[in-house]
Amino acid sequence: MKTIIEPFRIKSVEPIHFNDEAYRKEALRNAFYNPFLLHSDDVMIDLLTDSGTGAMSSAQWAGIMIGDESYAGSPSFYRFESAVKDITGMKTVIPTHQGRAAEKILFSILGGKDKVFISNTLFDTTRANIEFSGATGIDIVCPEGKLPSVSAPFKGNIDTAALQQYITDHGTENIAMVIITVTNNSGGGQPVSMANIRETSKICKEHGLLMYIDACRFAENAYFIQQREEGYKDKSIKEIANEMFSYADGATMSAKKDAFANIGGFLATNDDKLAIECRNLLVITEGFPTYGGLAGRDLEAVAIGLKEVMEQSYLEYRIRSTAYLADKITAAGVPIVQPAGGHAVYIDAKAFLSHLPQNQYPGQALVCALYTKGGIRGVEIGSLMFGKYDANHELIPAPMELVRLAIPRRVYTQSHIDYVAEVIIEVFQERHTIKGLKIIEEAPLLRHFTAKLDLLS
Ligand code: F0G
Repeated sequence: MKTIIEPFRIKSVEPIHFNDEAYRKEALRNAFYNPFLLHSDDVMIDLLTDSGTGAMSSAQWAGIMIGDESYAGSPSFYRFESAVKDITGMKTVIPTHQGRAAEKILFSILGGKDKVFISNTLFDTTRANIEFSGATGIDIVCPEGKLPSVSAPFKGNIDTAALQQYITDHGTENIAMVIITVTNNSGGGQPVSMANIRETSKICKEHGLLMYIDACRFAENAYFIQQREEGYKDKSIKEIANEMFSYADGATMSAKKDAFANIGGFLATNDDKLAIECRNLLVITEGFPTYGGLAGRDLEAVAIGLKEVMEQSYLEYRIRSTAYLADKITAAGVPIVQPAGGHAVYIDAKAFLSHLPQNQYPGQALVCALYTKGGIRGVEIGSLMFGKYDANHELIPAPMELVRLAIPRRVYTQSHIDYVAEVIIEVFQERHTIKGLKIIEEAPLLRHFTAKLDLLS
């Protein structure tokens, strides 16, 4: 087989600012060992997120110029709405400025005290919006999804037996909905199978429960289904996506991922009554229903991006290039979540820094080491992000300590990724010298964004 090449040429470039290790050490100290607080000019390869960081196509930039900025009834909205309906088949499409705005609206209406949201795994902002409404989020990913080193095709699946059990034990009264996150971002970017979505939907229907899809990376998930699930290899990505959404009552999406947009999102639903309530809230918090917190030009970029993301050659390159990084560091012995996720490689920091206990935040320590060594910025998905405290203020650690290296879409070339692999391998060889961290300042919710930390001596 020949090399899978990037299915695009580069028309416009941005400079990378080079710096050295001494400079980065100082920058990291000034950022309190939290790379979210770094100036991005001080980052050489930014793998913090794949959200809003993708390269737009020339067609999307052309769409930006066509964007119609009418307050109401813009043709850009109708193109956006039609692109979303074409994929999701949902009756109502409500634009929002990003994914969490859609979540906030939905959970403000369906959440609240005593309500429970059950998911394969909720993303951090999704969980925070649920908790902010007074409700509780419960993650029940399948057993293999909790074992980083075990390879399986659909480690993002929800544990349907655990879902059944929960319903048997607690009844359905307090369950606001079941949310399937595709791909499972907080659980290694692993896909969810069609069979699992279908079965979950069946359980939900039997018990009169709503099932929503968190659709940020729907196309990457559809590609995995096409490649790995029996019966889908001859189906197009669009056909697979259509089927995925056909099982759901609604969806939220951040268009900053699988729509190649810098900003944007939506809430889609089949429920007319709920749609009215959501729109009423939208008008207060986001804007008129035909722009919902976005400019007309953003709506155009999303509409075009949603079509581009389903191209077979793009997804083949996308998923292969993530696996390329995973393969390289795996060959050097670096422990990662196997197999590679769609949008990111997740290093198992618990195994990588086995000398650091979880209350010394091994994931964050590794994030800091990668930045210092090579100017690479990743993000901790572990006890800094998801840890809680017990009554004695002892850390209740997260189930996994991961470092996510999220690959922005269509941005970095193979040599950038080769460099990333070299840095990771060098840090791995020196892992015993890496020190733990302690938190010196934190916010009550989503603390990882702004927390200040210090090195343990
Ligand atoms: N759901 C999932 C699965 C996500 O990954 C994100 C964002 C959101 C919801 C919220 O969307 O940012 O547009 O409000 N994930 C980004 C990330 C931030 O880095 O993974 P948003």
